[in-house]
Amino acid sequence: FSHYKEVTDEVLKDSYAIVIDLLRATSTMICAISNGAKRIIPVEDISEARLFKKLDESVLLGGERGGLKIEGFDLDNSPLSYKKEVVFGKTVVMTTTNGTRALKKASFAKRIFLGSFINAKKTAEYIIKEALQYSVDTISIVCAGTEEKFTLEDILCAGYFVDLFKENFPNAFLDDLSLASHVLYKKFENDPHEILKYSYHYNHLKRIGFEADLQFCLKKDFIDCVCEYKNLVVEKV
Ligand code: MLT
Repeated sequence: FSHYKEVTDEVLKDSYAIVIDLLRATSTMICAISNGAKRIIPVEDISEARLFKKLDESVLLGGERGGLKIEGFDLDNSPLSYKKEVVFGKTVVMTTTNGTRALKKASFAKRIFLGSFINAKKTAEYIIKEALQYSVDTISIVCAGTEEKFTLEDILCAGYFVDLFKENFPNAFLDDLSLASHVLYKKFENDPHEILKYSYHYNHLKRIGFEADLQFCLKKDFIDCVCEYKNLVVEKV
């Protein structure tokens, strides 16, 4: 379990990784794929994203800087913008401040899944099934954080994944950060807003008008689709 800056290739190489940027990159990508986007191509730079559009006008550009839509882009980073009528059948090229970087950072893992409250149960079930079948015994959770700092919402969501894995493997070894995330999650599992209302990025999004996103991203398990980042592209498994 690591903040993305501490993830080493050594830790990841034999594991399945779950990358979490709850507010909002991984939640938004999961929502887009669940609404029928064909694929998402996460890129780190705005200029790289623009290049995709130059080569193929049909792609949609999405993402944020400072939480807001990037000039000339089709979509911001709100999951609510990625409606079926907008994204169905489309390739979306996305660049966000932290989430897209965290995905790239996890690229040494055997497989990389996107995590969020919105589809955690299905994702955990799928990972457990695959890990058992292919004898993978380590699951790494990679939290994106915000502006290179620890961020509470990702840790709460990580704690939910730990909870789901613990149900199936009560004797699994948990490192200290996993334990801490689980304790924190259990304390606020019925209402994560209760603690997140004091946190940095939650309040930033509220200030810039994305309160509805907070409600959306903190609801559990209303989306069934499992998303994997593979060969530089996010797709439904
Ligand atoms: C990011 O990747 O930094 C975030 O998803 C920021 C945001 O909430 O838009």
